[in-house]
Amino acid sequence: MKIQTVLDEAREALQASIIYYQKAPFGTVAACDPEMIALNYDQCFTRDFIVSALVFLMQGEFEIVRNFLTLTLTLQSHEKQLNCFKPGQGIMPASFKVVSRGINEFITADFGEQAIARVAPIDACFWWPILLRAYGKATGDLTLAHKPEFQEGIRLILDLCLTPRFDMFPTLLVPDGSFMIDRRMGVYGYPLEIQTLLYAALQAASELLLPDEPGTPYLEAIRDRLSHLAYHIRTYYWLDLDGLDKIYHYRVEEFGESVVNWLNIYPGTIPDWLVEWLPEKGGYFVGNLGPAQMDFRFFTQGNLLAIITSLATLQQSHAILDMIEHRWQDLVGHMPMKLCFPAVEGQDWRLITGCDPKNTPWSYHNGGSWPVMLWLLAAAAQKCGRPEIACKALAIAQNRLARDQWPEYYDGRQGRLVGKEARKFQTWTIAGFLAAQTLLDNPDHLALISFEQEPIPLSCNTLPG
Ligand code: GLC
Repeated sequence: MKIQTVLDEAREALQASIIYYQKAPFGTVAACDPEMIALNYDQCFTRDFIVSALVFLMQGEFEIVRNFLTLTLTLQSHEKQLNCFKPGQGIMPASFKVVSRGINEFITADFGEQAIARVAPIDACFWWPILLRAYGKATGDLTLAHKPEFQEGIRLILDLCLTPRFDMFPTLLVPDGSFMIDRRMGVYGYPLEIQTLLYAALQAASELLLPDEPGTPYLEAIRDRLSHLAYHIRTYYWLDLDGLDKIYHYRVEEFGESVVNWLNIYPGTIPDWLVEWLPEKGGYFVGNLGPAQMDFRFFTQGNLLAIITSLATLQQSHAILDMIEHRWQDLVGHMPMKLCFPAVEGQDWRLITGCDPKNTPWSYHNGGSWPVMLWLLAAAAQKCGRPEIACKALAIAQNRLARDQWPEYYDGRQGRLVGKEARKFQTWTIAGFLAAQTLLDNPDHLALISFEQEPIPLSCNTLPG
């Protein structure tokens, strides 16, 4: 199919996904598949809408994004809650829906309490300030972000991530399925995807917040957390052949302050596939890191976001792209890109997913391929001055997406089959393709989502190593 035809179809499908409230555009539904029961795919998901929003901002359509930001801010939970069944103060909704009763319309929001397995949408709190910043960049107008209620909304989110907790890491402790992978997949603890979003949200907040009032040192706290977070991820999550060699020879059960293997990672946990898979040239951030736990799986969104937000150093950014090029068949294959690699199988699948029939090996979140990753790949490749990587991936997607009616995900080791339970006309598949193409055509759009390198301290007094 010709690129222009694919783009025209995509634009039409994106328009068809728009949700209206009192005749004004407020968001996009997750999918418009006429052949499947909608379940909650007829709602506007915060994380899904970000991709549509980027396309709208790139096209100069600001109203829908402003309406979304304003509406979700009013839905944000504002009251301090001691009731454990109510969303805590500052939490942003996972999704919302416009319900019509006669001539009346009203909005209902879901904070995860209706979601399958009641997963907490922690990423919504991070995507919101990231989008607010993108809106400011696109319009050149910060008056929205500077309104008192928006400033308050940002501070409530910061209260959720900067307050004291039981653990003492710069990373954020979360339950399983708290982001795009919203099912049990062994992504509890300190998953990379959440940490990169936290990093971006903190940077966005530091740009948007007005100077602190005495006694509320938010900006200082953000700066402090950002540098510790950057140091922690760049140092301890990073894996290349040298790093693997070090872990392979780790001493264990070290006690006290000045230990090398301070999280007590056992070399026996290095999976067999990794030793052959890690190329000479290249590296990536591991999926998760906690006490005696290193999840060696490659998670695409986290790694690409790390590049885009400059959480990865320049050298690390290039190494991640090298890695993608070296393992192209595994990570891109017939449809860009794998959500994570490799799939968990057998007894691991049983224990990690809880025998989830939707997350069988090489399907859905468990090693399935998600075209929405295209916009992240385009942004990351563009940022590193290597757009040809994204062009190659887009050419593969272009040949299939419209023909297959924009599926949500693909199955198989190399993403050859349309996902077993994939929705057609999945909005973020459509928007992901459009955003990627528009960004490559006009690299200036990268500024909407990209963050520049933050200087990090040479030593870190709260961390060993
Ligand atoms: C699935 C995905 C989730 C997405 C939702 C709507 O539940 O796992 O990330 O937000 O569908 O598209």
